[in-house]
Amino acid sequence: MEKANWKRHSHLALFLWFLVSSRSVYARASRLRNVKELKSSPPLNLDVQQGYVVMDNGLVRVTLSNPAGIVTEIKYEGVDNALDYSQRESRRGYWDIVWQRPGQADIFTIIEGTSFKVMAQNENQIEVSFKMIYDAAHDQSGSALPLNIDKRFVMLRGQPGFYSYAIFERSNGWPGVDISELRIALKLDHRRFNYMAVADNIQRVMPTASDRTNGQPLAYPEAVFLTNPTNLTFKGQVDDKYEYSKDNKDNHVHGWITSDSQVGFWMIIPSYEFKTGGPIKRELTSHVGPTTLAAFHSRHYAGATLKGLKFVDGEPWKKVFGPVFVYLNSNSDSPTSFSLWEDAKHQSVKEARKWPYDFPASDDYPHATQRATVRGHLKVHDRYLERSPFPAKSAYVGLAPPGAPGSWQLNAKGYQFWTQTDDCGHFTIRGIRPGKYNLYAWVPGIMGDYKSDLDINLRPGEYKLGEFVFTPPRNDPTIWEIGIPDRTAAEFYVPDGNPQLENPLFINHPEKYRQYGLWERYTDLYPDHDLVFRVGVSDYRKDWFFAHVTRRSEDNSRLPTTWQISFDLRQVLPKAIYTLQLALASSAGAEVQVRVNDPNASSPQFSTGLIGKDNAIARHGIHGLYQLFSVNIPGNRLVSGTNTIFLRQSRGGYIFSGVMYDYLRLEGPAV
Ligand SMILES: *[C@@H]1O[C@H](CO)[C@@H](O)[C@H](O)[C@H]1NC(C)=O
Ligand SMILES: *[C@@H]1O[C@H](CO)[C@@H](O)[C@H](O)[C@H]1NC(C)=O
Repeated sequence: MEKANWKRHSHLALFLWFLVSSRSVYARASRLRNVKELKSSPPLNLDVQQGYVVMDNGLVRVTLSNPAGIVTEIKYEGVDNALDYSQRESRRGYWDIVWQRPGQADIFTIIEGTSFKVMAQNENQIEVSFKMIYDAAHDQSGSALPLNIDKRFVMLRGQPGFYSYAIFERSNGWPGVDISELRIALKLDHRRFNYMAVADNIQRVMPTASDRTNGQPLAYPEAVFLTNPTNLTFKGQVDDKYEYSKDNKDNHVHGWITSDSQVGFWMIIPSYEFKTGGPIKRELTSHVGPTTLAAFHSRHYAGATLKGLKFVDGEPWKKVFGPVFVYLNSNSDSPTSFSLWEDAKHQSVKEARKWPYDFPASDDYPHATQRATVRGHLKVHDRYLERSPFPAKSAYVGLAPPGAPGSWQLNAKGYQFWTQTDDCGHFTIRGIRPGKYNLYAWVPGIMGDYKSDLDINLRPGEYKLGEFVFTPPRNDPTIWEIGIPDRTAAEFYVPDGNPQLENPLFINHPEKYRQYGLWERYTDLYPDHDLVFRVGVSDYRKDWFFAHVTRRSEDNSRLPTTWQISFDLRQVLPKAIYTLQLALASSAGAEVQVRVNDPNASSPQFSTGLIGKDNAIARHGIHGLYQLFSVNIPGNRLVSGTNTIFLRQSRGGYIFSGVMYDYLRLEGPAV
């Protein structure tokens, strides 16, 4: 009787949720469920066996190998094992790392513990540890991974899922190591899970791993043309895991739903304080396998310039990655998969609100009372926009380890804590680990990077930091500008994909830059001449290609390209210095040369030199690392009348050499 009632409520609630998207109705449904969970949540059970450790809270049962600490089985509702049990046990659910000792090759290692320990066991929580230890005395060959890694798995009462985090540590005197990738990977059962969701508008029935094996690799091996898929509707589509990447700040939840729409499997990432590169570092999410990841650190969208986790001989270090939450939900009450995604999103909001978590047993994870809060407000002073400083609206403000302006983009060894200001420029950052920081910021719509000179040394407690004023780079009033200074190329012209090589998900999609192969569209649009932008006539949304790439020639070689910006000046002050502000959203194996009015000048007015390894063009990102160049142009290079600035991407030879511009601005004296 009660159960039937609950079902009816739940149906009604979901129906209304779709209809009016009413928060209160949804909240009621989930309150009902919470009550149900609490009343009926069975006790926790930990079973330590020879070779395995089993954690069970009556909702989900998780089996880990002992002492390796590999997740070998996740039992939930009618699903005996959500993981791919056709894989070897060591390849189902694991932490992995790609690392290199100086002068040696990259090694991919699945992190396996050698000792097991119960860290907490009470009526609300089980926490277990699987530890891998570096043994300096027995590393004569100098080829071992010089890290101690303590992997933790936590199960809470009444929570359908489990948490995982890990403490990484290096002691004084240990040999150097360069870590290029660090993640949790979960390989799901492909016979069950076929629907992937990473955002409201990025969800689809996915191809299978064998569809990829049977297909044809494209310009990158990760991009595969599906020639012989099991589901014929996928024939002729392109699959590439990078199409599903997300910025850290947006990467809260992603995962998979079973083909019968009954069970969802989600990776919830409640915070990115432990992730590399701050809010807009892009990482992989879920992809064909079916695979779901928590990507903590990688060079993706940043390149080898990201020396973030490189340790010299002797360098000590300690860092906690996670916890992240592996969440399962089920839909036995409603037939639509939509609600599983909505519920997972709802759960991700709940997890973020609970951050910092109060349960991790490690002393290396400070709880809320052991952390700091800072408050302040940020203003912008750009006297050519407004005479006096004005509030920095929706600005990103963050505490990150001390460094140069913008250094947070590359920081991986420490923690970062970011927020956005309100309309008045006020900000509050909560849950900050004690430590030494600088305050960094950038403001959407304003060029450049802010860093306060203040050394911020935090202990637990509240800090009022007062007012900060960001004076962005600016020499003179704006003569013209192209684009929006927001660190992406999204506002520029993003073409449709090649109809022969598409992922239908991204056709007419607001993020169609995710489509494969857009770099080739430049040659299609500009087969024998390059882009010319006429200030006052052209529209950057239509006439400025989102990436300055090479041109494909008849023999398939890749040629440098030269873009032109033509503009009129009524009067020029020959003795004045004009400034071209060149903000880049991404660069890869590129060199941008600036020439003024003479395309054939043997030496350019300015060159960036060879820059970038972030590969955002090849990886369907819309930005990589941000760089700003301020180029001086002596007035005597300009003329009264029509002028042309030539932007030459001078590095040919490679298909993916190129840059994405974020924003360009010419400044000059008011006349
Ligand atoms: C094949 O893919 C389509 C979507 O393109 C989906 O609607 C359909 O259910 C899939 N068929 C099977 C058998 O999975
Ligand atoms: C630059 O050189 C090209 C090829 O040599 C020539 O066709 C063009 O007229 C020159 N442009 C200028 C402005 O001198």
